[in-house]
Amino acid sequence: METRRQPRVTFDGLRAMKRRGERIAVLTGYDTEDATLLDAAGIDIILIGDSVGNVRLGYPDTTHVTMDDMAAATSSVASAEPSAMVVVDMPIHSYETPETALANANQLISLGADAVKLEGGTEVAGIVRKLTQAGLEVMGHIAHTPQTDRRHVIEGRTKSEAEGLLCDAKSLEETGVFSVVIELADSQVAGRITDAVSVPTIGIGAGPHTDGQVLVLDDLVGWTDFSKFRNGKAPTFLGSGWDRRSPEATVKQFIRKVKDGTYPSEKESYNVLHE
Ligand code: KIV
Repeated sequence: METRRQPRVTFDGLRAMKRRGERIAVLTGYDTEDATLLDAAGIDIILIGDSVGNVRLGYPDTTHVTMDDMAAATSSVASAEPSAMVVVDMPIHSYETPETALANANQLISLGADAVKLEGGTEVAGIVRKLTQAGLEVMGHIAHTPQTDRRHVIEGRTKSEAEGLLCDAKSLEETGVFSVVIELADSQVAGRITDAVSVPTIGIGAGPHTDGQVLVLDDLVGWTDFSKFRNGKAPTFLGSGWDRRSPEATVKQFIRKVKDGTYPSEKESYNVLHE
């Protein structure tokens, strides 16, 4: 019988990192070369994001990404046999019913991912529960959810938005997710969510108070041509001053800055809550 590879960072290990206040470094990776680069640098989690659509496949956004695209990316990343944990995004339309979600998640896991990620809060709790009850590891993704929201607005601006996000995180925690991504959110709100849940939160554009940080690899190392996207500028949360002498140097610097708490700074965060 084939034995599954044991990732260097385990699901229990991630929870222990949260308890110890040790920050978790996550970057996206889409193929064997990325996985080799990230693993050698010591990343905790490689996220095969559906951002593969816009950063590598020439799609305008993630709404065009298919299961075939994610399956190909998963096989490619897995072939590097990384010791980092590998989490893969379930693409839009792949988790519309509990049954299709389970079949598609199982396919991605069978190709070498350790866990799947899907977007949404309370509205996807039933789907997530189906996956966790079947023994699968699931990462949630709340606040800005690009598959269904193209506005790129910072979430958590009002008391009721903040309460809604907290409710999303709590309901995902109850379904048994091992972690929750918080994308584009007020820094204090993301901090309150982080304090309120027992599972690690991983922020992107959500300030310094989450348990970990994730960025899109191509954005970090300078491969993304931002003139082609949105308002033509790199997002504020990406920050500046990255060591771009080589992708290896940038990735190592990102890991170091996440671990020592210097990325993101307040300047690379959003404070938009008006209670
Ligand atoms: O697809 C992706 O890259 C993501 C991250 C931005 C969290 O979901």
